[in-house]
Amino acid sequence: MKLRIKVPATSANLGPGFDCIGVALDWWNTIDIETLARGLEIECAPGLPRDKSNAVIQGMIAAFEQKNQKMPPVKIKMDAAIPIASGLGSSSAALVGGILAANAIMGDVFTRSQLLTLATHVEGHPDNVTPALLGGMVVAVQEGERLHAVRMDVPRDLRAVIFVPTYPVLTKKARGILPKAIPRADAIYNAGRTALWIAALYERRWDWLDFATRDRLHQPYRVKLVRGMNELCDAARGAGARGVALSGAGPSIIAFTDHADDDIAAAMERVARKMKIDGRAHLVGISKRGARVTRLK
Ligand code: HSE
Repeated sequence: MKLRIKVPATSANLGPGFDCIGVALDWWNTIDIETLARGLEIECAPGLPRDKSNAVIQGMIAAFEQKNQKMPPVKIKMDAAIPIASGLGSSSAALVGGILAANAIMGDVFTRSQLLTLATHVEGHPDNVTPALLGGMVVAVQEGERLHAVRMDVPRDLRAVIFVPTYPVLTKKARGILPKAIPRADAIYNAGRTALWIAALYERRWDWLDFATRDRLHQPYRVKLVRGMNELCDAARGAGARGVALSGAGPSIIAFTDHADDDIAAAMERVARKMKIDGRAHLVGISKRGARVTRLK
């Protein structure tokens, strides 16, 4: 069997929605998987593991184990367009790709809800894997073993400008620096803004996003790992962005816009140059579609 799986990049948190909201981006990884008679072959970009620690393989193993089956020998070819360790869900995309491949090889044995739960369980939090699977914007909340994932359409006029620095930030480290407890005032600050984000989407009020993308739960602590975070956010706002946030655990910065021009990208790149931060700004749509599997033979 030969499969092609396309999985989108994702941006999690969107400011205040830590571990519970994310969007799928029109920026795709392509993974070709072919079952073999024996062995394991992985073709991927330098820097990505070529053994069982590869996230695609991890996803496959988890899915086969769930059904008490052994993973068959496979050849994997990854065209990883999503930058690694940049806060754009590259490891979630690989994991989701592996789970979908295993599901197709076993004969579509999982329901959509089971795929979402399995991916969340393996990843540890739902806000990248759920939009990677469903597309659009997803609110995902876990309670024990149960997962509630709600997909919403994002109107086409809202798009993202994402500044991607060339240096990596590991999610584990960016989670490790967060305090175990936060003041009640900060919890209230974030709860209100997360709700306002969803209200802004419902009402198409992009003028509410400046307020709705502010955060006190993780960004103020992560600024230590993300050079120029505040300056890049200010530059995007100054150039007309409707709202700006750290993308996932960083270091990318995502700005939302309903204009077609590229002033925001230019403003972010200007600040980056001034602060000697290597990187590039990309204008990216929000993807309506999530990951998809095509059978090649
Ligand atoms: N919500 C997660 C975090 C996303 O901010 O740590 C990381 O991919």
